[in-house]
Amino acid sequence: MAETQAPSPYADNAVLDVIEQRSSTRQFKQGVQPTDEQRAAVLHAATRAPSAGAMMMYSIIDVRKQETLDRLSVLCDNQPFIAKAPWALVFVVDYAKWIDLFEHVGCFTPEFVERTGKAPRRSSHMGDFSIAAQDTVIAAQTAAIAAEAVGLGSCYIGDVVEQAEQMAELLDLPAHTMPLSMLVLGTPAKERPATPHPVENIVMLERYRRADAKTLDAQVAEMDAMFRPHAKEAGERVVDIYTRKHTSTFMAEMDRSVRAWFANWTGEKPLR
Ligand SMILES: Cc1cc2nc3c(=O)[nH]c(=O)nc-3n(C[C@H](O)[C@H](O)[C@H](O)COP(=O)(O)O)c2cc1C
Repeated sequence: MAETQAPSPYADNAVLDVIEQRSSTRQFKQGVQPTDEQRAAVLHAATRAPSAGAMMMYSIIDVRKQETLDRLSVLCDNQPFIAKAPWALVFVVDYAKWIDLFEHVGCFTPEFVERTGKAPRRSSHMGDFSIAAQDTVIAAQTAAIAAEAVGLGSCYIGDVVEQAEQMAELLDLPAHTMPLSMLVLGTPAKERPATPHPVENIVMLERYRRADAKTLDAQVAEMDAMFRPHAKEAGERVVDIYTRKHTSTFMAEMDRSVRAWFANWTGEKPLR
């Protein structure tokens, strides 16, 4: 049965309309590569994203080789559709480039330390991570919206943080980096109606409000409605998330792997 979609309420605003119409793409037209113009538009848009102190604390690994896509598909919790996408962008939180710059201009020399009174050498820590990670994800989302605007579909792959040791080797990632977001991209194989998103318990006026039972009931009902026909009893979507995601083996691997990435980030235990 053909899926129908309500008309976008933002049809007269190009930017809002792209945001409204976007949905994740997991099926790509086979044998169709993004054009050079599409690739350039997406990568340029990413670099136009805001960035803390304009430091651009990220790198984008542009993956086009089938063998690398095949490997990513396995390392990212065995998701075969990754290998069927013609293009992947791995967004790497990157402080290595700043450490290289500091070194390059002489910030670590004894003369510099004496002249400025600054600590001899500081690694990247959690404070640096908190801003660098924002830079990285904002660049990724700007790329995702730009992709949509030039006719490419995309899907995030959260599992890119798994299998730290093998991922560091595959992408040659040095200390003070961590791959945080990945997008797979290509021409969508079919129409993708925008998926409904929950709205309950998200925006809180002026201060944080812990949901009361009434709000939680509303949230559960909203999620079950979106999860039909799978959800037959109240709360089934929340139980599904608990069993399939919160307590999954992939989440256990994510926990383990992200700890390894943090040790790589601070330089405490580099993966390469
Ligand atoms: C951080 C993040 C990680 C995600 N990881 C995956 C993934 O590994 N595999 C996948 O098929 N979809 C993944 N998605 C896509 C979400 O499932 C999708 O965004 C969500 O279901 C909402 O649907 P929509 O994007 O079509 O609106 C991810 C999305 C985000 C934001």
